Amino acid sequence: MATLYEEIVDAMGELHGVHPGYRAAHARGVFCRGTFTAAPEARELTRAAHMQGEPVEVTVRFSNGSGNPETPDTDRRDGRGMATQFQLPDGETTDIVAISLPVFFVRTADDFLEFVRARRPDPETGEMDVEKVGAFVAAHPETQAALGLILPTLVPPESYARCVYNSLHAFGFLNEAGERRFGRYRWEPEAGTRMLSDEEIDARPPRYLAEELEERLAAGPVSFTLRVQIAQEGDPLDDPTVAWPEDRAWTTVGTMELTGLDTSSERGDEVVVFDPTRVTDGIECTEDEILATRPHAYSVSVERRREGPG
Ligand code: HEM
Repeated sequence: MATLYEEIVDAMGELHGVHPGYRAAHARGVFCRGTFTAAPEARELTRAAHMQGEPVEVTVRFSNGSGNPETPDTDRRDGRGMATQFQLPDGETTDIVAISLPVFFVRTADDFLEFVRARRPDPETGEMDVEKVGAFVAAHPETQAALGLILPTLVPPESYARCVYNSLHAFGFLNEAGERRFGRYRWEPEAGTRMLSDEEIDARPPRYLAEELEERLAAGPVSFTLRVQIAQEGDPLDDPTVAWPEDRAWTTVGTMELTGLDTSSERGDEVVVFDPTRVTDGIECTEDEILATRPHAYSVSVERRREGPG
């Protein structure tokens, strides 16, 4: 019998098509390399090795959310991903796997499966069944509220370097003094955010985002600031459908400088895997069911990627 995670990845395949060798979500992406340097405030928040101030190397993969690698960058229903792997001094790695959405659609694995299934195209018409999606949303007020925040953000950006990317999940941060605080990550682009107008979208080629990033990096480094929004008592730590109030304190934890494309990752048979639960001493996962679900579903996708050509 298929596991829940296999069922999820199967349903994603029915939504986006099965594309052997590609990720079941965020199928198309581009790798970059650079460094991350923690700000002095980071040490007060966490004792994590990459947050002590010494620059560490990073590998970043920017991506489009679709599981179909042929979905054009100009699609008006897609989010963007930014997955970052930090090289720790002891040779281990730790990841932040973030997305351009401000919140997530659902708060449980079962709801995720049901929501993906509701969006599968009707085999006869090839179109999404609006009634099925409407019924799911009507039964899930948190999804309805989340969609109100998400839909306006699904506009193609000028650049991968002009989006904000959120971890959505909260993590626990433990410092040397043994103090624990909870927070959510946000990567903010130094270039500022900018979405394209309708005319600009129509004029862009289907793969403009990777081309634009290559040109941008050839002209100079691309920087992001990593900030953490600190939870206050009562803010939900396990519910990625809910945004915390913007007036919560933000701590700037560091700056990432991307210096070029990484043309060596995932060439040939190599499979790179980002995992939002791959934390390190000083950072802890919270009891967020979506966060706990992700590595299992990603493993199913990774196993299938290893089997197919990419
Ligand atoms: C239950 C909820 C979710 C499921 C089932 C799911 C599923 C997946 C799968 C199967 C992949 C491909 C993994 C691989 O082959 O390496 C993937 C990639 C990705 N997901 Fe999710 N995802 C979920 C929630 C999220 C959330 C909440 C975020 C952001 C906060 C997110 C961001 C990403 C990104 C950025 C990638 C691409 C990573 C890369 O570049 O390798 N996902 N997701």
